[in-house]
Amino acid sequence: MNSTAQIMAVRGMNDVLPGDIGLWQRLEAVARELLESYGYSEMRVPIVEHSDLFKRAIGEHTDVVEKEMYTFVDQGGESLTLRPEATAGMIRAVISNGMLRGQRHKLWCTGPMFRHEKPQKGRFRQFHQINVEAIGFPGPDLDAELIALTARLWRRLGVTRVRLQINSLGTAQARRAYRSALTDYFRAHEQELDPDSRRRLGVNPLRILDSKNPQTRDLVAAAPLLTEHLDSESCDHFDALRAALVSTGIDFEVNPRLVRGLDYYSRTVFEWVTDALGAQDAVCGGGRYDGLISQLGGEATPAMGCAIGVERAVELLRLAPQQPLTIAPHVYVITSGERASAAGMRVVEALRDALPRLRIELSLGGGPLRSQFRRADRSGAPLAVVLGDEELGRDAAALKPLRREAGQSEWPLAELPERILAALSADAEVRGAGLGDENGGGR
Ligand code: HAM
Repeated sequence: MNSTAQIMAVRGMNDVLPGDIGLWQRLEAVARELLESYGYSEMRVPIVEHSDLFKRAIGEHTDVVEKEMYTFVDQGGESLTLRPEATAGMIRAVISNGMLRGQRHKLWCTGPMFRHEKPQKGRFRQFHQINVEAIGFPGPDLDAELIALTARLWRRLGVTRVRLQINSLGTAQARRAYRSALTDYFRAHEQELDPDSRRRLGVNPLRILDSKNPQTRDLVAAAPLLTEHLDSESCDHFDALRAALVSTGIDFEVNPRLVRGLDYYSRTVFEWVTDALGAQDAVCGGGRYDGLISQLGGEATPAMGCAIGVERAVELLRLAPQQPLTIAPHVYVITSGERASAAGMRVVEALRDALPRLRIELSLGGGPLRSQFRRADRSGAPLAVVLGDEELGRDAAALKPLRREAGQSEWPLAELPERILAALSADAEVRGAGLGDENGGGR
């Protein structure tokens, strides 16, 4: 290859540029705050795990394991895989760090996942998830709470074009009964199945239900339903979940065809789908996996989780009304005059000491007042601090609200931090971003 030829990104793997990072950070910040408020702690797990972990957790006959894993042999001869999802690694970590012992955990993580799928709109080979797992909670109250958390996330983000679908897959025993009913049905139509589905008939007929082949999908539409084979405990669990969602005011549809693409699920499964993104319509998916922990060598412990597809959620965020694309500073500091521009850095650093949680931007490079105000306006900041030679001579500076009708006011430098906070909280009131407002998560 020509050594000066341009090197391209790997197909299906994207850069996130500064123009978009505000949407990513907003999603991450709102999710982080929400997860913490529901009692979830962040955890970080490796991107690479032993290939066997995914085979055992996700299932040998799933699309993910059969076709989509980035698997390689490392220099030590071990077969390793770039994680296609986070649940397996999180559960491996919980077991290998001795965290079970009858304890309950609410955990989350975020980061890139890798699946060698055919790239298209909304479907990538490297994509990101915000992944949530609750371990040690057997009852349907947890299922309802997790779903309520995701519903609140959409509300806080101002995302409206999403619908919730739920289903129950029953216990492993109930699924065995269903499996044989399904096998009988598909055997009777074996000639009409696509080759992939025919092969799966003998090993994992449930996976035929997610086939994308049009002819097979017609067969699937008429196949027996899992709901007809549910055990009574799973029915009770599902009834309690539905009742909790109704009483919380969360709309849902029961989709008896929702089986999810990973083998570890039992009982509740759910997906948030949208009509705004084309064919790749799932923005969040999850469910209960009461059998997985013991299957991976831990003591039997019920668990449930879900993952939000970050790229798809960011696209929805882009469609939500009035979302800023970049993260705005709280305060934009403008300087006017020689002395003021020399003192600007010192004053701003002192403000950063006094108000460490605020984003304070100094108008670097100075310039005419008018163009500095234009920059301040473009930055999205609600408030400008104006440092002029004259005011500085009096050890003072001026505040000028930028997003509401209010004049400029002068304050002693020593009082500036508290005056800035007062001006910003007046702004928050104007924008209606009080504590009770789901959209007040702000930027
Ligand atoms: P999943 O349904 O495979 O579940 O993925 C969750 C979400 O990740 C999807 O709804 C979608 O938004 C996004 N996603 C998946 N594949 C791609 C892709 N190729 N490109 C872009 N986005 C994608 C899981 O991964 C489970 N581990 C979720 C879970 C956690 N279940 C229990 N705990």
